[in-house]
Amino acid sequence: MAVLTIGKVGNPILRLIANPVDLSTIGSRRFQEFLDDMFETMVHFEGIGLAAPQVAHSQQVVVMECDGNDDIPQTVLINPKIVFYGPTQSEMWEGCLSIDNMRGKVLRPSMVRVQAYDRQGVLQDIEANGLYAVCIQHEIDHLLGKLFIDRMTDMSTLTQLEEFDAYWREESVAVI
Ligand code: NI
Repeated sequence: MAVLTIGKVGNPILRLIANPVDLSTIGSRRFQEFLDDMFETMVHFEGIGLAAPQVAHSQQVVVMECDGNDDIPQTVLINPKIVFYGPTQSEMWEGCLSIDNMRGKVLRPSMVRVQAYDRQGVLQDIEANGLYAVCIQHEIDHLLGKLFIDRMTDMSTLTQLEEFDAYWREESVAVI
C-alpha cells in the first residue's frame, strides 16, 4: 500500500466532473489496490473521507472511515447517486484534506439515501444521518467538482485552524 499525494484547492482536477468507474474493473487487482491506497492515505492524513479526484484520479470513487466512531462505518462508494434528501437541514463545521487548515460551517440536508457499488461490485442502498450524511454529501461533491467552500452560505464562519482551536473547537468538526 502507499500514501498518495493529495491535490489542494487550485488543482484543476478538483473542479472536474469525475468519470464513472467501468464496473468490470472493480475486481481487478489494480483497482482493489487503489482502494487500499485511498484508505491508507485518508488515515495517514487523519481524514474521515477521501474522494478519488483528491488523489489525481478523476473517477467516481469515495472511501470513508472513522476510527472509534460507529456513525461512520468503513465505506466504499463507487458511482454513487443520492436518490433522496431528507426534509430537515443541519449545520456542521467542515474541513477538507484539499484545503489545509481551514474550517467553515455548511448547511446540508441531515439525511440522505445513496445508491452506490461497493468494493465487491454489489449495488448498495444506504440511508445515512448526522455526520455520515454530511460526509457522504461532502465526498460526492468532490465527484461533481465542488468543495465545501462552494456550499457555504455564510462566509463569515470561514476560519483558520488556529482561530478555530481558540474559539470554536468545542463544536464537532468533520475533516473530509
Ligand atoms: Ni474534502
